[in-house]
Amino acid sequence: MKNWVKSGWRSKERIQMPDYTDAEALKAVEKQLSAYPPLVFAGEARRLKAALGEAARGRAFLLQGGDCAESFAEFSADTIRDTFKVMLQMAMVLTYGAKVPVVKVGRMAGQFAKPRSAPVETVGKTELPSYRGDIVNGFEFDAQARVPDPARMLRAYTQAAATLNLLRAFSTGGYADVHQVHAWTLGFTQNQEAERYRDVADRISDTLDFMKAAGVTQETAHTLQSVDFYVSHEALLLEYEEALCRIDSTTGLPVAGSGHLIWIGDRTRQPDGAHVEFCRGVQNPIGLKCGPSMTAEDLRVLMARLNPENEPGRLTLITRFGAGQVGEHLPRLIKAVREEGAEVLWSCDPMHGNTIKSSSGFKTRPFDAVLREVREFFAVHNAEGTIPGGVHFEMTGKDVTECTGGVRAVTDEDLSSRYHTACDPRLNASQSLELAFLVAEELSARRREKARQAAV
Ligand code: PEP
Ligand code: CO
Repeated sequence: MKNWVKSGWRSKERIQMPDYTDAEALKAVEKQLSAYPPLVFAGEARRLKAALGEAARGRAFLLQGGDCAESFAEFSADTIRDTFKVMLQMAMVLTYGAKVPVVKVGRMAGQFAKPRSAPVETVGKTELPSYRGDIVNGFEFDAQARVPDPARMLRAYTQAAATLNLLRAFSTGGYADVHQVHAWTLGFTQNQEAERYRDVADRISDTLDFMKAAGVTQETAHTLQSVDFYVSHEALLLEYEEALCRIDSTTGLPVAGSGHLIWIGDRTRQPDGAHVEFCRGVQNPIGLKCGPSMTAEDLRVLMARLNPENEPGRLTLITRFGAGQVGEHLPRLIKAVREEGAEVLWSCDPMHGNTIKSSSGFKTRPFDAVLREVREFFAVHNAEGTIPGGVHFEMTGKDVTECTGGVRAVTDEDLSSRYHTACDPRLNASQSLELAFLVAEELSARRREKARQAAV
């Protein structure tokens, strides 16, 4: 990438980032982080890019999910394991329906910084700076806690490193072995989704038994015993991103060492802004959130800036319009992509366009609206002849009550019972699995339709 340096974003307009008051302390933290090892390696980011390129062509499917905001308080092995486990279950259901590999990417090990719709938060007569994620300031409604503290970047790095370490252990250490497909259900509350999952798991077990009997286990043993699990986050706090940026010794190109995939949020995607400037220069796969205000022209400019070589897997467009809005906004973006001949992966985030305030005062998302947006995403792509290649969810493996609805029908009144999110409401384990079944149905319907067309 010509005319790019990792600090180049500093001369661009910065929004949604804290103004640190102690410049010396900030510098010291940046220096320390710059000397630390990267969290991910360039070869891994390249492998993910290749996998996403496959998804863009319909030969794989992207499942991206995890917390809206990781937090220091909720950090534990159990939390990580539970989210990992549900993602494996969802991936199984999707693979079973779509008959293509599922690319698994957590919103984990770095998803700490949050853009906010308002710079201040008011409670009663007190006005304080907004909470911007644990990597920036504290969640407590307290003047001292809300002062941005650069030392939080070091704590976030440490938590990300420990999270990634555990994820790597789970991915390759036997836990993710597909022969454990039944064991992943243990500890799940009995419900309809668990029942449906068990059904799929039975069929997978049968297939594995068949393969063993037929002697096909040997060459596939490694693939079945481990998974590729990648991590991603919004590249919002650019001091952190710059400090972890490294030069890949294989290609000599810059790579974000903070996570495999980084994305640009819907609020920080100004073509001349700081975030686009940083992301354009690193070779990682890049996500771009596309909300209702994204025009065809915005998208054209952003594609040229972020993927000038039109490299497959480089750019994932994560659309998040809201239920009932997809038909109005997605077609113009598809048209722009088509006219440019651009290689992109289309993914659907049915969360961020569907946030409402419940009657009980909590920020929530009705499960029905989430489902509806996913269906509309598939319907538009099916009609346009383009490829719905992935989904992006805010979810957790815990049995929280943050989104309403689902087969176990969380109500407005239930929200207060287990509302633990540090930011946006997440799908709980049961709702996540239910959604995976719906997506699997959409994918297998597409597969059948394609087979039918091929036959005539
Ligand atoms: C997010 O993914 O947490 C987020 C803030 O999304 P968006 O930028 O699409 O609003
Ligand atoms: Co969110």
